[in-house]
Amino acid sequence: MCGIVGFIGNKNAKDVVLNGLTRLEYRGYDSAGLSLFNSRYQTFDVYKDEGRVQKLVDSTKNAAFSNIGIGHTRWATHGRVNKENSHPHYSQTRRFIIVHNGVIENYQQLKDQYLRNTILTSETDTEVIAQLIETFSQTLSVEIAITTTLKLLHGSYALLVLDSNDPEKIYAAKYKSPLIVGQGVDGITVASDLMALIGYSTDYHALDDKTFLVARKEGIRLFDLNNESLDLHFKPIELDDQDTTKGEYAHYMMKEIHEQPSVLRRIVTNYYEKEKSLIKSEILESIKSSDRLYILAAGTSMHAGLIGKQLIEKMTSIPVEVHIASEFAYQKPLLSKNPMFILVTQSGETADLRACLVLINQHHYKSLTITNVPTSTLAREATYFLELYAGPEIAVASTKAYVAQVAVLSLIAHELSNQSIDIRKELSIAATSIENFLSSEEILPLVREYLTRRNCFFIGRGLDYHVSLEAALKLKEISYIQTEGFAAGELKHGTIALIEEGTPVIALISDPKINNNTRSNLKEVQARGAKTFRIVMESCKQDGDEVILENVHPLLTPLVMVVPTQLLAYYAALERSYDIDKPRNLAKSVTVE
Ligand code: M6R
Repeated sequence: MCGIVGFIGNKNAKDVVLNGLTRLEYRGYDSAGLSLFNSRYQTFDVYKDEGRVQKLVDSTKNAAFSNIGIGHTRWATHGRVNKENSHPHYSQTRRFIIVHNGVIENYQQLKDQYLRNTILTSETDTEVIAQLIETFSQTLSVEIAITTTLKLLHGSYALLVLDSNDPEKIYAAKYKSPLIVGQGVDGITVASDLMALIGYSTDYHALDDKTFLVARKEGIRLFDLNNESLDLHFKPIELDDQDTTKGEYAHYMMKEIHEQPSVLRRIVTNYYEKEKSLIKSEILESIKSSDRLYILAAGTSMHAGLIGKQLIEKMTSIPVEVHIASEFAYQKPLLSKNPMFILVTQSGETADLRACLVLINQHHYKSLTITNVPTSTLAREATYFLELYAGPEIAVASTKAYVAQVAVLSLIAHELSNQSIDIRKELSIAATSIENFLSSEEILPLVREYLTRRNCFFIGRGLDYHVSLEAALKLKEISYIQTEGFAAGELKHGTIALIEEGTPVIALISDPKINNNTRSNLKEVQARGAKTFRIVMESCKQDGDEVILENVHPLLTPLVMVVPTQLLAYYAALERSYDIDKPRNLAKSVTVE
């Protein structure tokens, strides 16, 4: 949520920052801004406006060379989407310039207490930080003014600060929101995530909470908030350009849908050496010794967690509860005696989950984060972590990460169980089934025929019900069609009242045992005018079914059943000419609660 990038070195900072912002735009795209040093007037210029990074690229075309700069792409939290509220923000005398990702919860209080005589020019919480630094810098050194300010802030921040009086330094600090510093031959880049560093840095250090750094062309110094020096620990960057481009596809989402078979194969390769599982035995032992598992997650990841619960409970005797992270954090349920927590998250930065993990750690419970980003906060702060190996997921709508989450959860379930499933083979059958479907899919005509209304329902039973929830989220978030996923048998208990002539109802059917039950529910809605179609596994196929998928292991059907629903969402958004990879009001990494 919001992307920030700063650069100091031998290159034109404008290029590094704009390229970085373009790569981080999936984190927020309400507005974009940049600050560069103007050597003629010895000040920092600010360019910003609502809209996308491309607009900023155009408006900064003629900006002069500057070897230092910071930029921001915004997902609005405080204040409307407009130029004034866009970052960077100046302090009152324009001495300090700041970009920020996060939320300052006590900004009003700080304003009332310290800034009564300061005129603020935006509605943002961020501007308060710039003004406080300026206020404190009147009597304190800049570094102390910054740490004094940081100590007053409640909430979350990753921020970069420039000082016009000393234009050879970028100050950076972090609490709860992610921040990474990279070094390369041409200079130092500080950014919200690794993607902004590709091409400019060879190594990176992920900042810990409540640390603060000063980047100069010559090097980086790291401190705690008491200005005590700390060591930096650099690791090589293993991402490359290929991972972050669309390749032959028009949208990242389509590319990521098509990557799903290879993601499943990569998971098998990374988690097995021949037949031997590479999941650390201590992780499995911790799970086995707990009396109940609590899966915590949000959105699509929560839907993967629901499938995980089914898999673990069906393959082992360990009970599992699934909780929405934002609810769990503040409405903690009655826990079992010896709980263990599994946090499922693509980004590893979701603030709602972080709030849960803080609580979990306070109680010294064991936790496992399953994430796509091994450098992320939730990977680092949990007792254990497992990687998804999905490769960077850039489309806001999550697809391959969901499939990877379900697959990794299935591996955990398998390693805990006594059942003799050849999970490697079964996952590879699922990969082939997806591949074969994708190579011959004919989803667009279905979209044109059925998804013409402002609402839609997905129905299913058992695992298909949980896939229906994910299918509905995908369709609504990118096509803006109001969609609900429903347990097929539950519809008649109230929601069927919404069915009218032409309402699309899509049934997911993968389990022969309940095939006919779901079909009866379809008949009920058809009788009331619904336009229905079916996505089915071959084992459940009947005449006239529209989408038929090659059979896979009965516990792994979600991996395959979800794919046509991802395409339905994709084509529905395409038909409406919506911005598929960056749907309105959303951001990829939700780092505010
Ligand atoms: O990064 P996370 O998996 O923790 O994100 C959680 C949700 O915000 C995310 O799954 C969201 O629902 C999807 N982007 C929707 O496609």
